[in-house]
Amino acid sequence: MRILLVDDNSTNLKLLTKLVGKLESCEALAFASPDAVLSALPELDFDIAIIDYQMPVYNGVELFTEIVRFEKYAQVPVIFVTADKDMTTRMAALNAGAIDFLTKPINPVEFQARVQNIVSLARARRQLADQAEWLRREVDRAVFELRQREQEIIHRLTLAAGYKDPETSRHTLRVAAYSEAIGLEYGLPEQSCNDIRLAAPMHDIGKVAMPDTVLLKQGRLTEAEYRQMQAHAQIGSDILARSHSSLLQLASEIAASHHERWDGQGYPNRLSGTAIPISGRIVCIADNFDALTTERPYKPAWSFERTVEHILGRAGTQFDPDCVAAFERALPKIKAIMENDRREQLEEAERTLAALSGKVA
Ligand SMILES: [Fe+2]
Ligand SMILES: [Fe+2]
Repeated sequence: MRILLVDDNSTNLKLLTKLVGKLESCEALAFASPDAVLSALPELDFDIAIIDYQMPVYNGVELFTEIVRFEKYAQVPVIFVTADKDMTTRMAALNAGAIDFLTKPINPVEFQARVQNIVSLARARRQLADQAEWLRREVDRAVFELRQREQEIIHRLTLAAGYKDPETSRHTLRVAAYSEAIGLEYGLPEQSCNDIRLAAPMHDIGKVAMPDTVLLKQGRLTEAEYRQMQAHAQIGSDILARSHSSLLQLASEIAASHHERWDGQGYPNRLSGTAIPISGRIVCIADNFDALTTERPYKPAWSFERTVEHILGRAGTQFDPDCVAAFERALPKIKAIMENDRREQLEEAERTLAALSGKVA
């Protein structure tokens, strides 16, 4: 324990220093004037302060008021040394946060007893603070591990869905990245946008229940097949529902709502306006943007410009107008994500081609 001692009387200061030296594992930091303490304060480190009340320029209370301005000393227990038995002085000291008094002339036995009490109190406080800090770190670590596991589950589920339809797995990752960009521009907190990015890849997980004849069909779906395909939203939500994981709950919400429309003409529940969760309203735009800018069995890929125009034109009917505005602000980021993905796909194709021609040669 380091104990700050401040007394302008050198005899008293020597006595206090000697008495502190007698306390078990305590060290004195002795100062003869408040000015000296104040200039050394930023570098000092102490657990208890014992301050003379009557000093020139600053009195003890004024000095302590300055000391506790520093956050690291805000909780430091202070004892004032006073010859004054005057009630006003003692009240001022108590109001300043004094935990005890020592009366001059100092009685060594009284000093030992009183200061030893404060030292024990400061030790207990420090132990508690250490324990609280340890617990906080443990909780942080457990939460981090839990999040890692949740993310792994999502990743593996997305991988599983990718075996059914390889295009789906790239599509879901792009949709996740677009959604995060839109969410940030919409003004959602960073943590929520991060959660949407992690949960969005499962928006089409219900497609695992679709027959291959429908899911992988080359060409347009019939009316009956289209209705069958629509079931993927509810099925996906059911697969992910009732989980204790907040990420899977969010993924379930997104799966259920990413085909709802702002005007109530969507599916599966024909929700409209803000009754559609914000996650669903955002992923809906990202999903449509990606579906339009990529080639599908029933249509070629649209250009970036044509797709943007299409989405802007549907603000207030198919899409939430505020989300469309956020989408428009996020366009530079969205374009970068799209181009990056295309570059990666091209490089992947080149590698496959090189490997194949190597085999042929
Ligand atoms: Fe979908
Ligand atoms: Fe999708």
